Amino acid sequence: MDIVEKLGNAGVVPVVVLDKAEDAVPTAKALLAGGVDVMEITFRTAAAADSIAAVAKECPEMVVGAGTVITLEQCEKAVECGAKFIVSPGYSDEVVAWCVENGVAITPGCVTPTEIMAAMSHGLKVVKFFPANVYGGLNAMKALSGPFGSMKFIPTGGVNGQNLGEYIAAPFIHAVGGSWLCSKGDIAAHAFDKITRLCQEARQAVLGFEV
Ligand code: 3PG
Repeated sequence: MDIVEKLGNAGVVPVVVLDKAEDAVPTAKALLAGGVDVMEITFRTAAAADSIAAVAKECPEMVVGAGTVITLEQCEKAVECGAKFIVSPGYSDEVVAWCVENGVAITPGCVTPTEIMAAMSHGLKVVKFFPANVYGGLNAMKALSGPFGSMKFIPTGGVNGQNLGEYIAAPFIHAVGGSWLCSKGDIAAHAFDKITRLCQEARQAVLGFEV
């Protein structure tokens, strides 16, 4: 299965910020135990590359990707460490072109018609919509779905267990992303059972809309 399709099947993409690489594998296992087999480890900390490498090596059933990828250098590093997909907060033509050329799944952040058209020019069918709660949320994505009927969105930013249902019910949503499933605080406190429970609840919400 195509990696972008796997993100859609999961329905939720945890945005994971790790300060310590040693927390990466236990966090991945907690997500897997909750039925979530995708995770985006963000390039916001010095531990990102080692964290991605650890999960890629020790949790083969987890589809690990890199988030907050801003430069081509970070993108190449992430893929070298085993990232199966790349997420950018915004649109970088350089990063998108490299990923497409190298067969690496990429969901760049696109919130305007111009950015969506740039992504489409590289053949992308799914983009991130960030920060969703600031750029108009569901109303904005619905309006963009008029001219861009085949484009699907992964909103992140302000998505949580309370509003998840509204997002995933919309036909133009591919999946949702967010940090609520495994917050920095929960990871630091090693609250892995809580992470698993939040994932189970989110998966139930996702599956409720699939049947
Ligand atoms: C992201 O990088 O996608 C966001 O920081 C996630 O936003 P959230 O913390 O509001 O879920």
